[in-house]
Amino acid sequence: MDKITVVGAGNVGATAAQRVAEKELARQVVLIDVVEGIPQGKGLDQWESAPIEGFDSRIVGSNGYEESAGSGIYIVTAGIARKPGMSRDDLLRTNAGIVQQVAENIARVSPQAIIIVVSNPLDVMCHVAMKASGFPRERVIGMAGVLDTARFRSFLALELDVSVEDIQAMVLGGHGDTMVPLISYTTVSGIPITQLMAQDRLDAIVDRARNGGAEIVAFLKTGSAYYAPSAGAVQMAEAIVKDKKRILPCSAWLQGEYGMSGLFLGVPCKLGRNGLEKIIEVTLTAEERAALEKSADAVREPMKLV
Ligand code: LAC
Repeated sequence: MDKITVVGAGNVGATAAQRVAEKELARQVVLIDVVEGIPQGKGLDQWESAPIEGFDSRIVGSNGYEESAGSGIYIVTAGIARKPGMSRDDLLRTNAGIVQQVAENIARVSPQAIIIVVSNPLDVMCHVAMKASGFPRERVIGMAGVLDTARFRSFLALELDVSVEDIQAMVLGGHGDTMVPLISYTTVSGIPITQLMAQDRLDAIVDRARNGGAEIVAFLKTGSAYYAPSAGAVQMAEAIVKDKKRILPCSAWLQGEYGMSGLFLGVPCKLGRNGLEKIIEVTLTAEERAALEKSADAVREPMKLV
């Protein structure tokens, strides 16, 4: 790909830009932020790591969008992050204004781009970005499920003392306390997780994954997680750039899938060159279906505020 832009040069954005460059997913990586000097300074610092890390993606920082014109993908991380005691919804009003402006700018300079939204509250920010850009749902996708699933997988790997690579799982629903880990689809190299772990341990891990974001905020105090969130966004970008047709849990605009419409929610998505290429509808247990519906309600509530 010619150009990938990351909007927001905070911890998530800057780390995402570095990951995109190290993977050489684009010839040019543009890092945009409103704060003067920060994207330029971080972008230059990152470019200076290129001879050591051995990548040729040129990273440049900018305060405006002109530099990013023609980007194939925008990873949108702009907005304020959580502080201890704040829920993701506390960020709603401030970040809705920011994400709206960002999406309008993207549509102006790169009308064919695919937007990967990372800003919180995630599912609602996806909606704001889709409305403000006027893009079809194929080109506005939210990063949350990959992160929530990675947390779940990482905890399962620790508990079982096995490779993270051998843990398959999928966390659906909104990016919040109501997210839905699908136990019936969680396996270790195909072995159902329930054969390997007692229910109470599994329940504890599900709980830890649900609160994974807050656990990090409680440690950091001045902000929220960024290594795993940036890795999640870049995995989605890679699936698109390389047209890999990966099946990843992403926040997507539902039009009848799972019996729901008119909201973004985490569901299994096929990602390829065209962005969201398909939403996969899997059979859910009665309990999982109820949990997904509850999670949808939790997303609809803050949607009313924007
Ligand atoms: C988290 C925040 C970024 O889950 O939503 O870490």
